[in-house]
Amino acid sequence: MKKAVIISGAGSGIGRATALEFSQQGYFVYLLGRNKERLEEVAQECRSGARRYGCDLNNSQQIQKTCEDIISQQDTDVQVLINNAGVYERNDGFTGGLETWRKQFETNLFGAIELTQRVFPIFKKRGGGSIVNVSSTLGLKTAAQVSAYSASKAAMNSWSQSLALEGGEHKIRVNCVCPGIVDTPIHEFNKLKGASKEKVLNSMSSLQPLGSIGTPEQVAKAIFFLAGDNSPWTTGAVLAVDGGINLV
Ligand SMILES: NC(=O)c1ccc[n+]([C@@H]2O[C@H](COP(=O)([O-])OP(=O)(O)OC[C@H]3O[C@@H](n4cnc5c(N)ncnc54)[C@H](OP(=O)(O)O)[C@@H]3O)[C@@H](O)[C@H]2O)c1
Repeated sequence: MKKAVIISGAGSGIGRATALEFSQQGYFVYLLGRNKERLEEVAQECRSGARRYGCDLNNSQQIQKTCEDIISQQDTDVQVLINNAGVYERNDGFTGGLETWRKQFETNLFGAIELTQRVFPIFKKRGGGSIVNVSSTLGLKTAAQVSAYSASKAAMNSWSQSLALEGGEHKIRVNCVCPGIVDTPIHEFNKLKGASKEKVLNSMSSLQPLGSIGTPEQVAKAIFFLAGDNSPWTTGAVLAVDGGINLV
C-alpha cells in the first residue's frame, strides 16, 4: 500500500506547496478544495499519484462523502492529515458584523474539526497517524483589525493541543504550524505584478527580523517535518514559521 496524505485547500498557496513536498517524498496525495481546475493542475504535478476531491469544508455532506471515498480506496495507507484550508478577512472588532466571524470560524476551525473527526477512524484503525494544522502567527499574537481571523487561529492552536492530549493513546500526533506573512493568493498583494508588487514586498520584508516575507515552499518544509517520520516524539507543538515576526 502506498503511504498517503490528505491535504485541505490543496489547490493553491501553502496547500499546493505542501502537496508537492509530500509527493516528492513519495506520498500519494488526496487533494481537497472547492476549485476543481486548480486541484487538477496540482494533481498533474504530483509525481507519486494524487486524487482530487471537490470538497467545501462548509458542507458536511461533502466532507462525509469525500472521506468515505478515501476510506474505500484499498491501495493507500493514509498516515497524515493536513488541515490547511483557510480564509482571511479583516474586520473591525467593535463594529464589524458577525458574518465575517462566522465565515472564518466555519472554515478555519469548524471545517478542520469536521474533517479531522471524519479522518479519525482511519487513524484509529491503522493504529496511529499524524495531523498538522495550519494556523497563523496571528493566532499567537494578534493585531488590530483582524480579531475574527486571529481568534479562529488561536482557537485552532488550543484545539490542536487538546487533540494532542487525547490522541496520545491512539498514537496520533497533532501539531500546528503558524506561518507569518507568506506570498499566496490569500493576500491582495499577491495579484500585483512588477514594480508595484516589488514595492509592497520590500516594505513588508523589513517587518521580519530575517528581512523577508515567506514562500509557500518554506512553510511546506516545516509542515512536512512535523507531519512525518522526522518528528516521532513531537506532539502539541505550535511552531512559528514566520521570519521572526512573532517576536517584534
Ligand atoms: N499566506 C499567509 O500569509 C498565511 C499566514 C498565516 C496563515 N496562513 C494560513 O495558511 C493556510 C493556507 O492559506 P494560503 O496562504 O496558502 O492561501 P490560499 O492560497 O488562498 O489557500 C487557501 C486555501 O483554502 C481553500 N479554502 C478556502 N475556503 C475553503 C472551503 N470553504 N472549503 C475548502 N477549501 C477552502 C482554498 O481552496 P478553494 O478556493 O479551492 O476552496 C485555498 O486553496 C490558511 O489556513 C491560512 O489562514 C496563511
